[in-house]
Amino acid sequence: MTSTLNTDQLLVDDATWWRQAAVYQIYPRSFADANGDGIGDLRGIISRVPYLKRLGIDAVWLSPFYPSALADGGYDVADYRDVDPRIGTLDEFDEMVAALHAAGIRVIADIVPNHSSDDHVWFQEALAAGPGSPERARYIFRDGLGADGSRPPADWTSMFGEPAWTRVPDGQWYLHLFAREQPDFNWDNEDVREDFRKTLRFWSDRGVDGFRIDVAHGLTKELGESLPSQAEIDAITEPGAHPLWDRDEVHEIYADWRKVFNEYTPPRIAVAEAWVTTHRRPRYASAEGLGQAFNFDLLEADFDAEQFRTIITDNLALSAASGSSTTWVFSNHDVVRHATRYALPPRNGSTTVKQGQEWLLSGGTAPVADVELGLRRARAATLLMLGLPGSAYLYQGEELGLPEVADIPAAERQDPAFFRNPGVDMGRDGCRVPLPWTREGSSFGFGPAGAHLPQPAGFGELSVEAQDGVPGSTLELYRAALALRHELQAAETLEWVPSPADVVRFARPSGWQVVTNFGTDPVALPDGEVLLTSGPLAGTQLPASTTAWIRTA
Ligand code: NOJ
Ligand code: CA
Repeated sequence: MTSTLNTDQLLVDDATWWRQAAVYQIYPRSFADANGDGIGDLRGIISRVPYLKRLGIDAVWLSPFYPSALADGGYDVADYRDVDPRIGTLDEFDEMVAALHAAGIRVIADIVPNHSSDDHVWFQEALAAGPGSPERARYIFRDGLGADGSRPPADWTSMFGEPAWTRVPDGQWYLHLFAREQPDFNWDNEDVREDFRKTLRFWSDRGVDGFRIDVAHGLTKELGESLPSQAEIDAITEPGAHPLWDRDEVHEIYADWRKVFNEYTPPRIAVAEAWVTTHRRPRYASAEGLGQAFNFDLLEADFDAEQFRTIITDNLALSAASGSSTTWVFSNHDVVRHATRYALPPRNGSTTVKQGQEWLLSGGTAPVADVELGLRRARAATLLMLGLPGSAYLYQGEELGLPEVADIPAAERQDPAFFRNPGVDMGRDGCRVPLPWTREGSSFGFGPAGAHLPQPAGFGELSVEAQDGVPGSTLELYRAALALRHELQAAETLEWVPSPADVVRFARPSGWQVVTNFGTDPVALPDGEVLLTSGPLAGTQLPASTTAWIRTA
């Protein structure tokens, strides 16, 4: 089937559109609410297509919009081939795809293949059918240990902190690496494999251009007769030897999916969410596999020139090894927004907020987080990223410079990471607060009524309305950068330009240079025409925490 993309900027059958695309992540429940039930919806997205077009992005990636009990923000999918009635209908989905395509914007859907929701009809059938049944073989069921089977098959801990095995009324146990409402599929089962092929074709036939693959390093598991303990698993360091994560067999699945992707013109694309060691990433990104993989290295780095330089060098080499283009990302629905991360002390790779650190974010008590510095650094980092070869993934609201919302009362929080990890993790609700579109109004223009997560009082001042057309606003910076990037982006190459230790400077083809001052003192601006800066210049000086794009002769 041929894509219906209708744009003067992109060729309809351009098979390489993704290589240097700017992809904007929409978390549908928090983007725009058209019908006033407090939950963002497809009509809301449709109404904002002009905004997305004006922003200048190439594609949107939609986090799950499928029917879900929302035990994990929609990553607990009850039906992979439908739309949650609270979010819309399949007809509205088609309308949304058509509107985005007409605006020259591609559509990426989120596929969640490691686990379903416990509401999924297959899991309900598995419960009803009982031990040893073909229905149960689609998931991972085991008898328990001990004479009466009352001990779990293993002492494993799930990603959200509770035990990874849960007992069902007939006495068996099932595996869930995430919440108990997210039973893991058994990928040795052909029904499971066939059903996902069906799902990929279902959305591809509806014009979806690509897929983000959730927990792509999960799926296949090596579970022998007797299971290792958590301590034994934790001691495994040899790549590919872990029984639960990043097994080589998973690539058979992606080779199979690649055949499905290639049934379409242009081939559907996929990007792996695979938290694996760096050298294991190229296989996920290979042309025989998913084609692209997230690189979370900058997201995990501090605002530090040396770290940035190393990460960029390493990832360009890795993408050359896989034949893919690299991906860059600072924010998504799982981590503290980067405008806030950069206001915190160096975090050495930690992207979550621990309980007891709320003061760092809320600004209510001393020491107050330096919000202004965080935003200045975030803008500088983003302008650097948008100058890099490869594709850039942006998360809704970062174009407004939104901070993490830290002071959400416990009673209003939704994320299982908060509830199941008491005293450890603040959870991810703070980056999922509905967007402010207007200065005033009950939910700052998010919808005609309230918002499903509370927005802070000052949100209106960060709204689209407050920043639209305002020189120097974060929104106008993103718009200008994305527009210029379209003009300047060329071959996927970069040359480092020698510079002081605190300065990162590189040249792209055709005289486009990017220079970022990570230090605390101003540095001399390189010669050339200044095209864009992330903040005001000081005469001929590039101030601290600022990036400039320069055209050299
Ligand atoms: C990664 C998703 O980004 C996250 O939000 C989710 O909780 C887990 N995968 C489980 O699906
Ligand atoms: Ca709604």
